[in-house]
Order: sequence, then structure tokens, then C-alpha cells
Amino acid sequence: MSQPLSSSPKEPETQRSDASGDTRKVLRVLSGIQPTGRFHWGNYFGAIRQYIELQNEHEAYYFIANLHALTTIRNRDVLRQNTWDAALDLLALGLDPNRAALFLQSDVPQVTELCWLLMTGAPMGLLERCHAYKEKKEKGLPADAGLFTYPVLMAADILAYDADLVPVGEDQVQHIEVCRDLARSFNHQFGPVFTMPRAKVLEHAARVPGIDGQKMSKSYQNTIEIFEEPQSMRKKVMRIVTDPRPMEQPKDPETDRLYQLYSLFVSEAEREQMAALYRRGGFGYGQVKQALADAAEQYFAEAREKRRALAARPEQVREILAAGAEKARRKASEVLARARDAMGLTW
Ligand code: ADP
Ligand code: TRP
Repeated sequence: MSQPLSSSPKEPETQRSDASGDTRKVLRVLSGIQPTGRFHWGNYFGAIRQYIELQNEHEAYYFIANLHALTTIRNRDVLRQNTWDAALDLLALGLDPNRAALFLQSDVPQVTELCWLLMTGAPMGLLERCHAYKEKKEKGLPADAGLFTYPVLMAADILAYDADLVPVGEDQVQHIEVCRDLARSFNHQFGPVFTMPRAKVLEHAARVPGIDGQKMSKSYQNTIEIFEEPQSMRKKVMRIVTDPRPMEQPKDPETDRLYQLYSLFVSEAEREQMAALYRRGGFGYGQVKQALADAAEQYFAEAREKRRALAARPEQVREILAAGAEKARRKASEVLARARDAMGLTW
């Protein structure tokens, strides 16, 4: 039989002390993002920006969820290209591999093994209630086992790294609840193996509107991509739907989508200046669109340069992903060993 486990799964492993000698627990943050297409402004302001900020405060693990993407992308070249683009985008936008481990989900096979261990105790009813599967079924569309068990793989992703905090959009909260349910019932049955994670629901102050005014989303084909060529970005900005009221009329900036978008890219002072213009009236939306396109181009200019440099050094990107995967596998092996042992799979 294997040795009894020495480390308690509940204790965070790292402690940090500041200049005053204060030691605080360092939380482990983990999140995954699916490589389903080029990232857009909504992905950035609604998710990616916050993930990246969290790397400064916590130990961070971020992965490109290519196994989850298999439930929708069934084309080798597309998946490979999207995965590569996602890695370049994240690094260019500031994900720092010295602070956060960046890796591909499929590079950690321990997760898929853990997924099976969790699957053996995952109630059908719990998975039947999960929205992705449920919605497809209600529409009468054929669903597969991948989509049905998607939340279990997500639970394995989270539990494999003893994650404390999982930053996600609102749509993923149900999946974190499933993860907690599975962890709770496993720990109850087999002993305290898994760390109980918490969802950190991302600030949806930035619920970014798309060019047609609905929520920006790939599914609505109303997106502006972060690294879209400036000319094409400008064209899309010029197409953003605007309020039909006459130019002279004062307008409330807070309810205007163009103003909401502009606000994402500029300083407090510039925002105030624009808000004053709205309240005064007597301006054209063309002027605001011009200002928005300029601000957006400038906002991502440095990241665009960085992306270009990274794309020219694919070896370096591969090394970053390999090092991230190595770190992730080390951690996941440790957790998987605990689960295997607790379930009676070790000899
Ligand atoms: P899409 O709707 O384009 O398919 P995803 O569902 O892949 O985007 O979203 C990935 C992440 O980006 C999620 O955390 C989601 O909450 C966030 N996100 C997507 N679109 C927006 C938006 N318009 N505003 C704010 N956040 C968004
Ligand atoms: N399902 C998530 C999404 O579509 C991506 C994801 C996969 C994830 N595994 C995860 C997010 C683990 C957080 C934690 O957005």
C-alpha cells in the first residue's frame, strides 16, 4: 500500500509575508478559457483583464480549455489555430508566465483521469440540470456525452490544482456549484481529499455591447476583436448602431452604448469630458465613433506590438506553454495521487 498522505489537502501551501512581517495565505486562482475563436472586446473587459490582474495577488493557473472546445470544434486545423491564437493573445495582453502558469488543458492528462474518478459519483440528475446540455435538449438538438459530462471535466480542472478561487463569468457559476457538490460528496465518502473552491464572479460592470447593441458575443456576430486590424476595427466602429435622436438634443451618456464602449478605453478625465458633451448636446455620433476608434487603437497598441514580437518567436511561446504544463502536471499528480489512494486504487 502507498504511504499515508502527509499533507493535509485543506492547507494552502504557500505563505507570503509583507514588509511588516504579516503572513497571509496565498490563494490559488485558476481559470480556463475556451479557444473558440479570436478574443473580442467583451472577452477582454469581461474576463481576460480581470484574470490577468489576479496574477499580481495570487498564485495563478490559467489554461486554454481545448478539451472543452472539442464539444463544439471538430476540425483539427481550426482548433490548432485557435489554441495558438489564444496563447498569443493572452501573453500579449499581459499574462506573465513568471507569475502565472499558462498551459493547454490537454497537456495535463491527470485531469482526464480525475474526471473519470469524479464521474463515477456524479448524479445524472445533477448533470441533466446543467444549462448547456439542458438547453440543447429542450431545443430537440442531439447532444453527446461530451456535452453532458462537460461540468465534470470542469470540476476535475478545478479540483486537480487545489484551486481556492475560480474567476468566471456569471454563465459558469452553475458549473462551479456542480464542482463544489462533487467535491463535497467525494470528501464525505472518501475523506478530505479536495480543496473546496469558490467562484469569483467577474464584475459585469463591463457587459460590453456589440456593434448591433446586443451583448457582444461570437454567437451574435457583432464582435470587434482585440487584435483586429485597425482599419477593419474602424469600419466596425462606424457601423455601431446609434440613437436616432437629433444631434442638438442633450442625451444621457450612461444609457448610450457608444459612450459605454468609449468609457472602457479612456481615463476618468476623458470620460467626464465626453459625458459633458452628451449632456450638452449638439454633437454628432460620427465624432464619438472617431474618438472611440482612436482610443481603442491606442489602448491595444502596445499589446499588438507584443503580439507581433511573440508571433515571430514561436519557440518561446512553446517553451512558456511547456513550462506551464510541467508545473500544472506536478500539482495535478499530487492531487490525483490523493484521490486514487482515497478510493483504493493504489496498491
Ligand atoms: P462568446 O459569447 O463570444 O462566445 P464566451 O462565452 O467564450 O464568449 O466568453 C468567454 C468569457 O468572456 C466569459 O467569461 C464571458 O463572461 C466573457 N464575455 C463574453 N462576452 C462578454 C461581453 N459582451 N461582456 C462581458 N463579458 C463577456
Ligand atoms: N467552461 C468554461 C467556459 O466556457 C471554461 C472552463 C473549462 C473553465 N474549465 C474550467 C473555467 C475551469 C473555469 C475553471 O468559459
